[in-house]
Amino acid sequence: MWQRLADSISAQLAHPKGGPIGWYVKYLFKKVNKPLSQSAVDLCNIQPHHNVLEVGFGTGEGLKCACQKIQDGPGKIYGVDISERMFTETAELLYMEIHNKKLELLLSRVEKLPFNHDKFDRVYHVNCYYFWRDMIDGAAELYRVMKPNSMMVTTLSLKRLKQAKKRGLLTKNAITDPMHYMWCLENVGFEDVSMKYVKNKLGFEHQAIFAYVHEK
Ligand SMILES: C[S@@+](CC[C@H](N)C(=O)[O-])C[C@H]1O[C@@H](n2cnc3c(N)ncnc32)[C@H](O)[C@@H]1O
Repeated sequence: MWQRLADSISAQLAHPKGGPIGWYVKYLFKKVNKPLSQSAVDLCNIQPHHNVLEVGFGTGEGLKCACQKIQDGPGKIYGVDISERMFTETAELLYMEIHNKKLELLLSRVEKLPFNHDKFDRVYHVNCYYFWRDMIDGAAELYRVMKPNSMMVTTLSLKRLKQAKKRGLLTKNAITDPMHYMWCLENVGFEDVSMKYVKNKLGFEHQAIFAYVHEK
């Protein structure tokens, strides 16, 4: 019984589709993951002229924060996610930002991004790389769309990931190991890849992985 429930939760964490379990998963994104999204946006040091990409935006908590950072400049925020459900709900939530052309959402996967080369100044993602079909392909696509002198931030909570794994709440093929992710980033050209322990204003300790594109 528990295993079936855990399997449904893990499937929806990787690709939210709605229903009662989907509702619970959305609750997790909004309440539990929100501080991680806020942290990723803050650590990106987004400037009003920046083009910024979030991969796997889920309920859009991170996008909301990112839009505030560019509201007084010519910058723009882009979000990609594979979930139609998340795409529709986040598009409704952030209707004004989309209408004002400060935000564009795309139903797409990280392994095949619908953007030209060298477009983004900042990229961030939260609790997402574990679900990529191919981490090297995803990393290579991100490198391709990032400008020279740009930066990517990935936030996660190793403690919560450990708990989720223990309870069987992650899909069997999910690769959570940050060292593997960082190895993939370096492999496709990212530089100065490092992981830091950070605390938010409320004392919530978590991890942030930084990766840079210097020259291409
Ligand atoms: C665990 S949720 C995290 C959502 C949000 N970042 C948060 O922290 O609340 C993972 C999200 O990544 C999306 N996702 C999974 N694989 C993806 C891929 N290959 N490319 C883009 N998005 C993906 C899922 O649809 C889901 O919305």
